[in-house]
Amino acid sequence: MCGIVGAVAQRNITPILVEGLKRLEYRGYDSCGVALHVDGKLQRSRSTSRVADLETQIQQTALSGFTGIAHTRWATHGAPSSSNAHPHFSRDRIALVHNGIIENHEELRAELQAAGYVFESQTDTEVIAHLVDHLYTGDLFETVQQAVKRLTGAYAIAVFCRDEPHRVVGARQGSPLIVGVGQGENFLASDAMALAGTTDQIIYLEEGDVVDLQLQRCWIVDVNGKAVQREVRTVHAHTGAAELGPYRHYMQKEIFEQPRAIGDTLEGVTGIMPELFGDKAFNIFKQIDSVLILACGTSYYAGLTAKYWIESIAKVTVNVEIASEYRYRDSVPNPNSLVVTISQSGETADTLAALKHARAQGMQHTLTICNVATSAMVRECELSYITRAGVEVGVASTKAFTTQLAALFLLALALAQTKGRLSDEQEAEHIKALRHLPVAISAVLALEPQIIAWAEEFARKENALFLGRGLHYPIALEGALKLKEISYIHAEAYPAGELKHGPLALVTKEMPVVTVAPKDALIEKLKSNMQEVRARGGELYVFADADSRIAPSEGVHVIRLPEHYGQLSPILHVVPLQLLAYHTALARGTDVDKPRNLAKSVTVE
Ligand code: M6R
Repeated sequence: MCGIVGAVAQRNITPILVEGLKRLEYRGYDSCGVALHVDGKLQRSRSTSRVADLETQIQQTALSGFTGIAHTRWATHGAPSSSNAHPHFSRDRIALVHNGIIENHEELRAELQAAGYVFESQTDTEVIAHLVDHLYTGDLFETVQQAVKRLTGAYAIAVFCRDEPHRVVGARQGSPLIVGVGQGENFLASDAMALAGTTDQIIYLEEGDVVDLQLQRCWIVDVNGKAVQREVRTVHAHTGAAELGPYRHYMQKEIFEQPRAIGDTLEGVTGIMPELFGDKAFNIFKQIDSVLILACGTSYYAGLTAKYWIESIAKVTVNVEIASEYRYRDSVPNPNSLVVTISQSGETADTLAALKHARAQGMQHTLTICNVATSAMVRECELSYITRAGVEVGVASTKAFTTQLAALFLLALALAQTKGRLSDEQEAEHIKALRHLPVAISAVLALEPQIIAWAEEFARKENALFLGRGLHYPIALEGALKLKEISYIHAEAYPAGELKHGPLALVTKEMPVVTVAPKDALIEKLKSNMQEVRARGGELYVFADADSRIAPSEGVHVIRLPEHYGQLSPILHVVPLQLLAYHTALARGTDVDKPRNLAKSVTVE
């Protein structure tokens, strides 16, 4: 989703701005642009193509300067077009880029039009540029502080003015913005990764902060206009541009990285102890009587899986809520509940807002399972477990999901232990199974050739059903999400017992039905549901395991996972579903790593 880079320096900053945009590309965008202060004027270049195209335009026009801002846009208000691309100008005096959504933009637009401003775009962002120009007093820092008071919604902005050549001002509320501190130069970005290689001295701005960046000055005021010092941290940001190596796509690489990612996530876990989640975890786990999980998309499905684990192992009640629903719902708060957010990026706007909503309702005990140690989610939560999947570039989440599951299983065990519900023998057995996961996943990855053969058939379909029961129902949901988001095949998942309550009407011989069928307590029930499908001519594609006792027959295709893996089986069973989605998308020729309309990090609601 949208990305910001800004700089004020004593050298040509265009390479820094362009490199920053390239590092943010993986988040998803549909246009990009850069604006610079050049010989007392504002100049810009914008493109509805890739950052590489913008770079060519910049080289062709020899655009260069010491002060400037840049942006990748993921369209919300107004189509992806050159005139809607940022930076936006006002009266050739103010240049501005923005992430987020301004909710009162219509009202502000009318007011500014009445004051004589002519709008060139359909964006909510252009109102901020004109508002800053309208309020301009000759001091950009002061003006931006006044302007943001008029904004309702979420924003991170970077702005500079033709009349103040060595100054960039930033502000944030609801969208992330960081400062990169240099020697005689300073930077702004929406993510520390954008500045990797430029500076590792990072300040995370807080909600309501406004920052004044000059060559030798980085001055921050808080939401009340009071000068504040924010900690400068040394951040070794990963570069998004990881090498593909022998793989065709980042998604494929990330699927195959899972043994390493799980191994790293569990590194150092030799026993179960609440302190894995933070120093205060023991006391908090003792006090809480339930868990509320908040997340979106794939992370939400990780949460659904965790509900089965936590309730059966720790005997603690769990509610799992889609963050975008929870944040606006009248719910009954339980102050003794542990609020758990799950997020790969740690920047998902709905999950962050849901977390704040939970806190505002009096739920103070918060924990996050997150893949980015420096993210807002980690900073906002009392406790955390950092998954060590490494940078996930593909929009379709894979290794982030399985590492989240590993961390959530640890959480179930740690809660059980704190509540006195985990014996030493059980602990030892679980640890052994967790440590064996990398090897077990590698064996599942070796099934790729069989899955490719299935994918060729799936590529010709327009619909698919996914079935699972119990612990594997969330895995069916995740399999359907993977298939739809990258292959654009319409896919739905159901708990198999629900089939006869409606979806069975969809089953014909044209409907492939993927069944997640490990040998668990519900396998015989699942087999009956499979019969219901076969009786209607539906074609079954079954992911069984070594113990499932399902034989291939007419209309029943079976791939057998090498090991039965008990409670941790969801972590293995999702892997072939990821591969099925990947190879189906490949056969259909879609843009696997950047599927249409989607962004990696969803920083607007
Ligand atoms: O960064 P997060 O885990 O908070 O992201 C949540 C969802 O946007 C994300 O899982 C999304 O559903 C993925 N594209 C699924 O593959």
